[in-house]
Order: sequence, then C-alpha cells, then structure tokens
Amino acid sequence: MDRFDVRGGNRLSGRLTIKGSKNAALPLMCASLLTDESFVLRDIPELADIANMQRLLPELGVEVAYDRASDPESPGGVLRMKVTDLTASHARYDVVRTMRASISVLGPLLARRGYARVSLPGGCAIGERPVDIHLRGLAALGADISLDGGDIIARVPRAPGGKPGRLVGARVFLGGPFGSTVLGTANVMSAATLARGTTIIESAACEPEIVDLANLLNAMGAKITGQGSPRIIIEGVESLGAADHRVIPDRIEAGTFMCAAAITGGDITLDNCPVDALMAHMDRLQHMGVVMQYEASADPMRATCRIMFDSIAKVLQPIEVTTQPHPGFPTDLQAQLMAVLALADGNSVVTERIFTERFLHVAELSRMGAKLYRQGSTVVVSGVRHLVGAPVMASDLRASACLVLAGLAAKGTTVINRVYHLDRGYERMEERLRTLGAEIERVNERESATLAPGVA
Ligand code: EPZ
Repeated sequence: MDRFDVRGGNRLSGRLTIKGSKNAALPLMCASLLTDESFVLRDIPELADIANMQRLLPELGVEVAYDRASDPESPGGVLRMKVTDLTASHARYDVVRTMRASISVLGPLLARRGYARVSLPGGCAIGERPVDIHLRGLAALGADISLDGGDIIARVPRAPGGKPGRLVGARVFLGGPFGSTVLGTANVMSAATLARGTTIIESAACEPEIVDLANLLNAMGAKITGQGSPRIIIEGVESLGAADHRVIPDRIEAGTFMCAAAITGGDITLDNCPVDALMAHMDRLQHMGVVMQYEASADPMRATCRIMFDSIAKVLQPIEVTTQPHPGFPTDLQAQLMAVLALADGNSVVTERIFTERFLHVAELSRMGAKLYRQGSTVVVSGVRHLVGAPVMASDLRASACLVLAGLAAKGTTVINRVYHLDRGYERMEERLRTLGAEIERVNERESATLAPGVA
C-alpha cells in the first residue's frame, strides 16, 4: 500500500492542464452498452475508478481498449469500446462494491437488452447512498424491479405475443431529500433514449456531467433537450449509433488545484479549466481574498485560469459555505476548501447538505492542529496560524485530497496513508504537485519496510 510523504511550506507556482473528468467519464463509458457500433471516448484520465469500469464492461460483453496519452500533460488517453455479446447482463457484487458508479450500467443494460442484474451497492465511507430514486425512475418507464440475493433485477415486460418489450416514456420525478440524483438522472436519461414515446424528467440533476452525457447521447442519435436544467425531455428513438466524444475537464481536480494555490499562497495557471462549472467554488475563494483571472474564452468549459494569493490582503478571510446541487457549491470540494479555511483569519462555517456525514477529514485535520467544531452537518472552522505535519489517513477520496492540501501548508512532514483512495480520482497527483514545486513523495510501504525496517 502506498503513502505520500509531504513536506509543507513551499509556495506552489506554475502551470497544469486539467485532466478529463472522472465523474463524467464513468457514465459515458456505460453508454457504450446502448449501441452495437464503435464507441470512442477521448481525454480519459488514468485512474483506478476508470480501470475498475474497464474491468466491469467486458463482463457485460463490451470489448474495451485503452491507448494511453503519449504526453503525460495531456488531458488523457483514448478508450475504444464495442459491444460483442448481448447475453451477459450481470454486474457482480465483487466489482460493484469497489466502485458505486457501477450502478450506471443499470439504465443502459435495461434499455438495450430488456434485462439487467446489478448488485445493489452498499453504503460507503461518505454515507448510506441509497439508489431508491434510480429504481423509482426506471419503474416509471415500465421496468419490473425486484431484489434477489443482494442484486437488483430489472426487466422490461414482454410485448403481446412474447416479443421483446420496450420501455415506455413517462413523466418522472427524480427529486429526493437531498436534491436530485446525478447518477440516477444518468440512468433514467440513458434508458429513456430507447423508450417508446417521450420522457420528461422533472427535478433532474443539472451537473455538467449530465450535460456531457446528454451531448454524447445526442451525437449518437438520441433526442434530448433541456440538459443542464431541472427538466430534461427525451424523445425515444429506435436505436443509437456510433460515438466519438471528448470528455469534459474535471471540475473537481481543477477546484482542488485552486485550493492548492490558495493554501500555499501560490500562483498557478490551469489550462483546460472548466470555469463555467466552478462558479460557486471560485466565488468562495474570491471572498477569501484569492485572486482569479480568466479570460472569456470560446469554450468556458476549457478556459485558462490563473489563481493567485492576494499579497496585499496577506491573510485569507473566513467565509460561510454550504454544499448544494449544481450550480451550488459542490460536495466534492467541501473537504478541500475546509483545509484552506483551517488557515483563515477567523471563524468559517461549513455546512454539508448533500452527504450529511461526509466529514472523515475533520478528525484527521484536527490531528494537524486545525480547530474544528462539528455539530451535525455543520462544522465551525476556527482559523489557526499554522498546521503541523502528522501521520493521517482517510478512507474517502476527497477527504484524502484535503489532507494533501493541509500537508502542503503544514510545518514539517505529513504522512498520508492509504493513497489508493486518491488514485481513484486524481491522476499522478504527487507528480503534478511536484511540477508546481511541492515536496511530495509516493512511498511504497512494503518497499520502505524492506529497505529500512522499523521506519515505515
Ligand atoms: C455523484 O454520486 C458523484 N459520483 C459523487 O462524486 C458526488 O459526490 C455526487 O454525485 C453528488 O454530486 C459520480 O459521479 C461517480 P447522488 P451520486 O445520487 O450520483 C441521495 C466523488 O468524490 N440519494 O447525486 O451517487 C444521496 O444519498 C464522488 O467523486 C437518494 O436519497 O450521488 C445523496 O444524499 C463521491 N436516493 C444525494 O441524494 C437515491 O436513489 C445526492 O446523491 C440517490 C441519491
């Protein structure tokens, strides 16, 4: 198991190209199940979650080949996929439990093959994470849904005469206690592309990853309008064709590097930066006194953005931040922003309204000297002058990113254990931070134990 050793105190500066989006790429990959024709995705980052999906899809009859990017600073490689077998429709627990986004195969399998068996994802480190709204939405399109041995069984009823049936368009409400559902919207929207008639999704997720998926499906011949708004309208078509699509840049990777500039008092320029998808995050950083410069570009999802510490203000200002569905402040950046707020000049208030238990970083940040007071889904962050390096770990991707950021600014060395969580969502994070001037090393625990017994 690898760990990161981070020696804090360096001011980061330089330039990076933002990689393709993990959370866009995963449901896009599942859309390969909707067509028999060739399916190509570009700018796909090299991440553990993408590799997991590359393992799952062949079990469902999809041939997958990945060409790595020749330039390590490009947004990513190319994935080529093609369905070769329509009979295997079981996403097994062994795979699904490693990655909850596996649930995104449910809608495409059901729509194209009339049958899907997908292991029910369990809870995870950030909370319970039910999929009831996904199932409600697919049932509204006519699917029979049941549970068997921990698996969701979804079936399209046969047509009269025993012929294969088809889902039927309907008006579907996808709102839940914490807003809409991103992957639930992806599942229902994907399934509805091949349904008979029109589907209207009310309270659809507005996240940029949903817009990217709708754009891909439309390029394959689907008829989707309203993506990016809470009402998406899908007119079902008979079949979908080939695809060749470039995934959007990763707004969470970009937001994390913005925090790295802020917490180290640095000056970082990000290319291929989806500023249009990061307005809430950039607004919060600006209120803290971080200077953001970006030019209006032809494509605001692929802009160049410079993030600088305001040397006149000298100290970061405290703020209030509440996570919300897009375009509100994203839950996937809450932990990283909290690391920055730990060093602000006063009391900040952070409220988590999407995953109300997503605070694995709080106890670990406190071990580094942060002053954090949690009550339910709110944390009061009382800024301190400095953090102090310590051994830490967190079993959640974004919480681990928060600890790396804290380590970059802390006095001394921070040892971040279990970095496989980071590898799920950040490509070569340590190498990218090193190019900006950070002192950060990946250490293989087993190797270091062999070389220096007792030290690891
Ligand atoms: C996606 O998860 C992302 N994952 C998450 O990214 C992200 O945190 C989340 O959206 C919210 O933005 C991927 O895209 C692969 P939801 P998803 O369904 O779709 C509740 C990361 O770090 N809910 O939008 O699974 C749910 O419990 C991650 O990259 C129900 O009640 O999240 C939560 O409170 C982790 N019933 C809220 O809705 C349901 O059926 C939003 O969850 C579904 C969800």
